[in-house]
Amino acid sequence: MSNSKKLIKNAKVVNENLILDCDLLIHGNRIEKIAKEILPNPGDEVFDAQGKYIIPGLIDDQVHFREPGLTHKACIESESKAALAGGITSFLEMPNTQPQTTTRIEWEEKNKRAATTSFANYAFMFGGTNDNLDEILALDIKRVPALKLFLGSSTGNMLVDNPKVLKSIFSRTKLVIAVHCEDEQTIRKNLKAALDRYGDDIPIAEHPLIRSEEACYLSSSQAVALAKETGARLHVFHVSTAKELELFRNDIPLEEKKITAEVCTHHLWFSADDYQEKGTHIKWNPAVKSKTDRAALWEGLNTDLLDVLATDHAPHTEEEKNQSYTKAPSGGPLVQHALPALLTAYNQGKISLEKIVQKSCHNPAILFDVKDRGYIREGYFADLVVLDLDKEFEVVKEDLLYQCGWSPFEGTQFKGSVERTLLNGHWVFADGNIHPDSAAMELTFDRE
Ligand code: DOR
Repeated sequence: MSNSKKLIKNAKVVNENLILDCDLLIHGNRIEKIAKEILPNPGDEVFDAQGKYIIPGLIDDQVHFREPGLTHKACIESESKAALAGGITSFLEMPNTQPQTTTRIEWEEKNKRAATTSFANYAFMFGGTNDNLDEILALDIKRVPALKLFLGSSTGNMLVDNPKVLKSIFSRTKLVIAVHCEDEQTIRKNLKAALDRYGDDIPIAEHPLIRSEEACYLSSSQAVALAKETGARLHVFHVSTAKELELFRNDIPLEEKKITAEVCTHHLWFSADDYQEKGTHIKWNPAVKSKTDRAALWEGLNTDLLDVLATDHAPHTEEEKNQSYTKAPSGGPLVQHALPALLTAYNQGKISLEKIVQKSCHNPAILFDVKDRGYIREGYFADLVVLDLDKEFEVVKEDLLYQCGWSPFEGTQFKGSVERTLLNGHWVFADGNIHPDSAAMELTFDRE
């Protein structure tokens, strides 16, 4: 790839709660200069962004790319390319692969694999189990973004349910502890009741009643209580109910919070009313809940009770998803369309551009101490996304980059598209095409 300076002219840059008309000069993999007007030098490659908006590349703090071991569903190469087409330039990937990322050896293997296969910047969360505290305490905190704990079982059977172990982990790790919260006993009880009633033919609409509000609240309130008791740094993944919002605060800045929360695209876009049309294609853990919950999540996001926007991109094959309720796995592919969905929400007046950027770019960088990314700043890595806020398009199968070849958004009309993506100073997505060479880097974390 060419390494000349790149000059981006006439951009409307959305960054740090402002929208500024300016030019950007990129040198190598970093942003060299941001100014009202920068004149090109001979040899500079000029891109005229007239009429377009530019935001920092998104940092998605929760994706499942399925490699190693589950590559019939997806792989790092396919999903990282889809991420770039969706404006996500950096991802934090989850440990429920096969083998699970619960030893330093497996973690190192995944990193090595990504170094040759990823097209977006990468880092891998480490999975906690009932018996790997020694491994957790020996992790390199400049390379591992966070620890992931499943406090409710989901794809991959990684439940951590020993209270003593949990207390030790919470008391002793310096890492952010990212948690999947759904109470196992409550889910089992609800599932048994549904099986008694419907046999194997449980309607998908029962999903939010099985993986219920009560299951979510019980588990997340216990995690929050343990974090308060131990002083741990807790991040609650994919909040899906109005009730859980009472566990979080918005009276202090993110930098001072010890307990933070995330909301995902699907919980903001879909509601229980969509099960009838979409069926198991919108089966997620935690479940998509009621319209009232969805409205509360938008409110919580806009009022800063919720700190981060992420996808929980979790592909399964269409064949797997088309099974009956009890057999169909939870999860679906999202990285290519999360940002267009948010831009559509912007066009509908649900959220500002500044808020989208704060929650998808700045806040993940703050929360995980991501080094030199998440903002458009001189000296920072040049990870940028060029947006056309007026472009309308329909999600069609032919345009999907996911290996699994389906999307819960098929047939949806979006307003707001990703036109181009710059990664570490290289145009890696433009005119609908992914550049054949990777420009990805491993993320590092600014921690002592
Ligand atoms: O719906 C989900 N799918 N939720 C999770 O927590 C895991 C994910 C997966 O890996 O399939």
